[in-house]
Amino acid sequence: MIKNIKGTKDLLPEITFNIKDIESHINRFMHLHGYGEIRTPIFESTELFTRSVGENTDIVNKEMYTWNDQNGQSLTLRPEMTASVVRAYIQKQIWKIEPISKFYYMGPAFRRERPQKGRLRQFHQFGIEAIGSMNPEQDAEVISIAYNIYQMFGIKELSIKINTLGSDDVREKYIIELKKSLSKFKSVFNENEYNRLEKNPLRILDSKNKNIQELIKTYAPNVMDYISNDDKKHFNKILNILDLMEIPYLHDTNLVRGLDYYNRTVFEVTSNKLGAQDALCGGGRYDNLINQLGGAKIPAMGFAAGMERLLLSMNLENNQNIITDIYIINLEEELINHSMKLADDIRKNLGVAVYVDSLRRSLKSQLRHANKIDAKFTIIMDSITLNDKTVVIKNMTEKKQDTISLDKTISFFESE
Ligand code: HAM
Repeated sequence: MIKNIKGTKDLLPEITFNIKDIESHINRFMHLHGYGEIRTPIFESTELFTRSVGENTDIVNKEMYTWNDQNGQSLTLRPEMTASVVRAYIQKQIWKIEPISKFYYMGPAFRRERPQKGRLRQFHQFGIEAIGSMNPEQDAEVISIAYNIYQMFGIKELSIKINTLGSDDVREKYIIELKKSLSKFKSVFNENEYNRLEKNPLRILDSKNKNIQELIKTYAPNVMDYISNDDKKHFNKILNILDLMEIPYLHDTNLVRGLDYYNRTVFEVTSNKLGAQDALCGGGRYDNLINQLGGAKIPAMGFAAGMERLLLSMNLENNQNIITDIYIINLEEELINHSMKLADDIRKNLGVAVYVDSLRRSLKSQLRHANKIDAKFTIIMDSITLNDKTVVIKNMTEKKQDTISLDKTISFFESE
């Protein structure tokens, strides 16, 4: 038997129904905030991700699905969307037309991670990228959008962690000091962790190893002692606006992100309902990326969220919720054409969901099925319909029924 690839999922109607509903709420929410949808290709040239996400990150080092195309070009399934949005933005030179662009997106992304609850190899992200503003109100808007989306979906157990990494030159100085302070304790690190300290030192700050956490607490320098006055002012203004908007947050000086393009603000929204993979979404400012990839010097800020993790935190993983308004039970072969036509007429005239059985089952089993899928009404077409052109309409919730003439069926539902 051919099976799906580890870390991927088949989504059946019970769940896609919920996902589409969530997506339409997200669409509406984004429009309310002035963000328009951007759709970029699912695969890109590999170089785009090595140059943006960063050569020394886990994503680029070991998690990308990369192959050589027939013409020898190296291609990669996108592990995230920010790089693609920026690539499209640069390619179309959008800054020449618009001083600020606000995009949102939804779609699949691919990372070859070890699958577990809330962590897949093909997962789905939605997110936003606000390109053009360097001001702190832009950061606050992005963070508030992330927070308010989860509020809209009724998720209460949320926390926001926020930090600033300072600007590039500050980060360089900080990284040197961080390495200096921790490399003295080489024996505490395993090989992997020590490699990380060497190649991507900031990531050591979010190590899960208790001994390293202790080291950091005692010996690592605090990034806040390194950042400039401008960085501080920027950060404080964001916190100021979040306070005013009554958005709770925790300033976590050890918060760093797994992608290289960030400067200044970084943040994550976590939920304690998710287990080990507790990040609902994450993002931050990336003021140098557009320039670094060949565009003008334009600041930007955004976040991305995992759709699967949103579903997990809503307990919506397997809810059957498909709406059926009317179920047509047909018991006579001679009435098949009639019931098909009636279903079509009702859908077109009333815009409601009509289900027609195609198994030619007994009355009892069709009724059972109608109950199972929560049909609000059933229309029974049987030998009586054949003889005197009437149908029985059962109201399944109020448990009452009417017999009406076949050609009055649509007007019956119009008055319901
Ligand atoms: P990220 O933190 O790598 O950031 O991913 C964002 C979110 O995607 C995570 O918080 C998580 O909910 C979800 N996610 C990531 N990997 C997986 C996985 N293997 N399985 C399930 N869900 C996953 C970014 O991707 C940046 N592009 C965010 C950003 C946008 N920064 C600025 N703009």
